[in-house]
Amino acid sequence: MNPGEHVERLRAEITRHSEAYHVHDAPTIPDADYDALVRELRSLEAEHPELRTDDSVSERVGAPASAVFSPVVHAEAMLSLDNVFDVNELRAWSERVAKSVGVASEELVYVVEPKIDGLALSVRYEDGRLVRAATRGDGRVGEDVTDNVRQIKNVPVTLKGASGHLEVRGEVFLPKADFLDMNQRQRELGLKEFANPRNAAAGSLRQKDPGVTASRPLSFLAYQLVDLDGSLDFTHYTQSMAQVADWGFLTAPETTTEVGTSAMVERSDWFEVQRHELRYQIDGVVVKVDDLHLRAQLGFTSRAPRWAIARKLPPEERTTRLLTIEVSVGRTGRVTPFAVLEPVVVAGSTVSMATLHNQDQVKAKDVRPGDLVIVRKAGDVIPEVVAAVAEPGRRRKGPWTFPTTCPACASALVRVGDESDTYCVNPACPAQLLQQIVHFASRGALDIEGLGEQRVAQLLSAGLISDVADLFTLGVDDLSNLEGLGQLSATSLVRAIQGAKGMPLSRVLVGLGIRHVGPVAARALALAVPSYQALEAASLDQLSAVAGVGPVIGASVVEYFADEESRERARRLAALGLSLTEDVTSSSLAQTLLGRAVVVTGAVEGFTRESAEETIGLRGGTSPGSVSKRTYCVVVGDAPGASKVTKATDLGVPMIPGTEFENLLTTGTWRTTLN
Ligand code: IVH
Repeated sequence: MNPGEHVERLRAEITRHSEAYHVHDAPTIPDADYDALVRELRSLEAEHPELRTDDSVSERVGAPASAVFSPVVHAEAMLSLDNVFDVNELRAWSERVAKSVGVASEELVYVVEPKIDGLALSVRYEDGRLVRAATRGDGRVGEDVTDNVRQIKNVPVTLKGASGHLEVRGEVFLPKADFLDMNQRQRELGLKEFANPRNAAAGSLRQKDPGVTASRPLSFLAYQLVDLDGSLDFTHYTQSMAQVADWGFLTAPETTTEVGTSAMVERSDWFEVQRHELRYQIDGVVVKVDDLHLRAQLGFTSRAPRWAIARKLPPEERTTRLLTIEVSVGRTGRVTPFAVLEPVVVAGSTVSMATLHNQDQVKAKDVRPGDLVIVRKAGDVIPEVVAAVAEPGRRRKGPWTFPTTCPACASALVRVGDESDTYCVNPACPAQLLQQIVHFASRGALDIEGLGEQRVAQLLSAGLISDVADLFTLGVDDLSNLEGLGQLSATSLVRAIQGAKGMPLSRVLVGLGIRHVGPVAARALALAVPSYQALEAASLDQLSAVAGVGPVIGASVVEYFADEESRERARRLAALGLSLTEDVTSSSLAQTLLGRAVVVTGAVEGFTRESAEETIGLRGGTSPGSVSKRTYCVVVGDAPGASKVTKATDLGVPMIPGTEFENLLTTGTWRTTLN
């Protein structure tokens, strides 16, 4: 291939991937591979200047705006950052910068920040009022997403004491924990899961309906203040960011100021070590010159400032042996293949299983039992098998074939049309029943502590239950003979089950697993039709008219109640003492903590323990007694419990001061953390 052809081919390939990423929010290759392609193109263009064109993709910083949103011409271009890929390049950059401004390299002051993996946003304020918000687009023209951004809880709509025209720029992102929750909801609704937190954030922001954006736990982190009319007079970046934080924006708590190249490089290493412990996904570290006069001196290239650099961190990948491929049967009958791996530590935790998504994915990756495979965490969270590693000389097993019958009930599996998913369609399949009951007891539904998959399986095989309603008939005597359950834990399990009887109707609706009914729809349904009996009798027209419900969900609810078995279950649940009603008085409160577990420890001013927990509940959250990986945050009041603090520290769960509790309740997020 001659260089001309090579360049053309690279450009086409980059354009294709870039469009998939920016326009469809569905990346086709890992970021690191994409960066490598762009670097290859740039170096070819550098070698062969005659092949350069002004509109080469190597010059672009993003993708053109789409047709859905109105274009916004940025008052000041939203530039990208130049990248370096290791400490030597970082050091060399720093020395160059220091030299060109005539400061000793060990004396130049830098700000070192996480490079959040989300999407860039510019929010414009005029005389302290939010007037417009735009995505980056191609850097010059972005998309108007004002209505959606108004739904992001930690983007202030007014700035106290601000005047003139200014823009606050930063990154819209989804905290890792929220990404996990969101994908679980997507699964529950039978919708496609997002590949990683960044795509989930992009997909959530670029919605036609701001109501959808509102239901997603998006957050905004600020990293730039743009003075559009010269009304601000800061001399240092850190000062401007202090003002931005004062206005109520979230800024990265990990940011530090470092004097000199060595300290700056060392801090960037800290990020490499700690990256997996942060609550957001990062793909690098950003280093910026603090002094704004020096910045002005350094200026810009056509696509990036000279006063900042991104040190990219590669996604962590490990190789391990693929032992076998198995399939699991979900609540809806979907059969998912997964890899059983020789345990390996990836991105901070041990991985021994990884999803393979579906039959087509296994085929496309051509991974076979016995292969050495590359494993990584998608979006720092979900373990996945990337590919098999070639091992010359080793004989591979034949390709793995998808089972034709359900591993749990042996009925024939069905793959519909051109869908990638395969289903067990036997309504009496025990594996589906198991998952349905587990789901009923899960955190987002009836939240019954101590009733996980193993326990449910045990109850089923002992013949103690065969339906969710049976749970409420269990007595201590039934349980205390089961293996691993003494009198004490049997008593607390029964208590937990009985305690769930008071759960609001919306949680029960979520727990029943009605198609398309996730927490948001369930809440809307229960508020509009606040009793089970009324819901059962409601017509399609009536349900479709409910805001946030609509014809699809409405039809699904009608269909659910048309089934005699569902109606019988409802009658039994009511007869067994479940309240099955919704407290409409809390409806006016925004559900800022919907589905989130907030642990309170120590005394929080203005609240008793009970009132704090009740208030969290009114905001849609739960307040479990202990800290776990799933805890959204820990509110640390006066005289906190040492074990909760230690646990939160160990698990990297954010801890926020008691003084932030009110803010947490109203916005669902916080400005400062203690860790
Ligand atoms: S500063 C003119 N700081 O990375 C400089 N960018 O690859 C503007 N990003 O477009 C960017 N974290 O979307 C800056 N702490 C941070 C960042 C950050 C993430 C993103 C941003 C930018 C892209 C450049």
